[in-house]
Parts: sequence; structure tokens; C-alpha cells
Amino acid sequence: MTTSILVEKKKLAKPPLDIHYLGDRVLRQAAKRIASVDEDIRRTIVAMLQTMYSADGIGLAAPQVGINKQLIVIDTELEKPEIPPLILINPTIKKYGKTLCKDQEGCLSIPGVYLDVERPETIELAYRDESGRPRSLKADGLLARAIQHELDHLTGVLFVDRVENELALTEELKKKGFSLQHVQHLTSGAK
Ligand code: NI
Repeated sequence: MTTSILVEKKKLAKPPLDIHYLGDRVLRQAAKRIASVDEDIRRTIVAMLQTMYSADGIGLAAPQVGINKQLIVIDTELEKPEIPPLILINPTIKKYGKTLCKDQEGCLSIPGVYLDVERPETIELAYRDESGRPRSLKADGLLARAIQHELDHLTGVLFVDRVENELALTEELKKKGFSLQHVQHLTSGAK
């Protein structure tokens, strides 16, 4: 049985799901493991992909659309229709590379805000795919960053929590109409 999910990489006038924004409590909850990958989950995956493509995003985690499940869709190749998206169910990072690198991140839940975040450059990941099969993956560069960013969403962490440049963070949030009070700092040695 083939269960591959085909979704056209295009913008819809009315995306199926609403994205929740910084300040919304659903973004701060820990997501629950998915016990079985069934048709219901696959329908959710399709709706998440359509919503992500409509918003020009390269990643979307279920809590961002108000679904409290360990489910992520990622596509770092928006311009390449032949490359399928990555669908991660119950993902866990097994290993982090030692090298850290800093790059700019954004988030569909914090539109317009782009700031530098430091993360391990490489990771090894275990997850289930859209058919429920266990899989593993080694990633680096943009993909590794996108995976770590989306996995954070499953534990209620947002990229702004990891931003070290306090001044840039304050200014950027203010400029885009977000409040610093919704940031939960995660800097090393946090209380
Ligand atoms: Ni995000």
C-alpha cells in the first residue's frame, strides 16, 4: 500500500488551517505523541502542507495550527515541485553535532520577525513517516536548522526564546507589533 502524500506547492486563497501567533497559549504547550498514523493524521498532514505553502513557509509544526500533536511538515525546496516534503511524526533528536552555527530564523507564528539563532550545525534524528514507518535521518545546514526550529515547537519553545541579542530582539518584536513579555528566555544557565 502506498500512502505517499501529494500536495501541490502553491498558495491557496483560503488555506485550510489558521496559524496561531506569539502570545497565544497553544504555542506554549507540549505536544502529545501520535499513537497511530491513520487517515485522520494523513488528512491533517495535507491540510498542514497546504497551509504552509500558502504562507510561504519552509516548516510548520502542528501546535502552530492549534493541534496538540507531535507532527511537523518541512519543505526547504519550495521551488522544486519534484522534491517531496519531509513529514516528521514523533521526532526525537538522537545526536547533536559539536559545531554551533548562527543564522537568521523566522517563524510563521511571529510574522516579519527575523533574528539570529545559534544551533548545532548537524543532527541525527529518529521519527516516523506518513506511513508510520520508523526512519532516521542525518541533516545539516538549513534542513538541520529547520528541523530543530520545528522540534522546539513540540515542546512549546519558540525561536525568539533562543535569541541572545536582547537589543535586536526587543526592537524587532516592537517593530512588528509583538510584545517582549511573550518571550520565554532559554539562554544557557537560565534560572
Ligand atoms: Ni516556527
